Amino acid sequence: MKTIEWKKGKVRMVDQTKLPAKLEFIYVKSLAQMVSAIKIMQIRGAPALGSAAAFGMVLGVSNLDVAAKKLLDSRPTAVNIKWAVERMLKIARAGKGMATPELKKLLLKEALKIAEEDVEINKSIGRNGAKVVKKGMSILTVCNAGALATVDYGTALGVIRAAHGQGKRIHVFAAETRPRLQGAKLTAWELKQEKIPFTLITDNMIGHLMQKGEIDLVVTGADRIARNGDSANKIGTYAAAVLAKEHGIPFYIAAPISTIDFNIQTGRQIVIEERPEAEVTSIGKERICPKGIKVRNPAFDVTPAKYIAGIITEMGVFRPDRIKILKA
Ligand code: MRU
Repeated sequence: MKTIEWKKGKVRMVDQTKLPAKLEFIYVKSLAQMVSAIKIMQIRGAPALGSAAAFGMVLGVSNLDVAAKKLLDSRPTAVNIKWAVERMLKIARAGKGMATPELKKLLLKEALKIAEEDVEINKSIGRNGAKVVKKGMSILTVCNAGALATVDYGTALGVIRAAHGQGKRIHVFAAETRPRLQGAKLTAWELKQEKIPFTLITDNMIGHLMQKGEIDLVVTGADRIARNGDSANKIGTYAAAVLAKEHGIPFYIAAPISTIDFNIQTGRQIVIEERPEAEVTSIGKERICPKGIKVRNPAFDVTPAKYIAGIITEMGVFRPDRIKILKA
């Protein structure tokens, strides 16, 4: 099943705000609907957002500059949106002077290609990453970097999927990932579907389990990687990486090359999305704290390259300081 797909003139997407209770699809017919779906996280995860942005450009064909701006402003950290928008604008430039229906066809061809490539890229990431997974390892992952965060298969979960498929008898610790609970809601749902042995933990249990020797490896996704290898991912990833270093546990990032932002030198240049306070003050519909208090909700953090053993890409596993060669 694909997380995002073009079907009869509409974009069919899994509504990730409904999982794990219900597997429901939304059918996106307009640019405005796509932008809203991205903002409220019916679709999320950097590569899936890249694909959503590409289809968003198809839907926004009547004014591509406006479409590009709206999509770029929808979620600022995941660079895959920018990557996809720029790729679509390049195609639009090549089709300059075409009538709108022809241009739309041309753009759709490219968006379909982006979606198709994503699945193949993830499978390559899975194969490359499985090499760092030894038999019987217990692997920690943060957030959801699975099929739901991509068109299909996943990046960090792609590595886990591949290692499991190779009979490595792995076990996964899925961190619940406050405040949006992507680990509890989405990663647990995917791992259960795939029958991959796993245990759900809250984010603050990571240090304890590492100290007890229960975690052998950490693999997470990324939303934007700077030229020097500093990597932004879901809030809490940095803490997990520092703890991993303290306990001598290898920490890997699994991400497609489209997640590398070759325009920025270090992670300090990465814009961190701040999300609504309500995500922190409530769990579901229930308010969990007093009213009238100060709240922060940065959605991502940056793990400096020195904590990262390797970045697993479709082209192989690279030391963070080597990824700049991938620009070529
Ligand atoms: O806020 P989200 O759910 O979009 O954040 C997702 C992540 O942080 C993922 O780890 C990242 O996008 C990589 S997905 C393959």
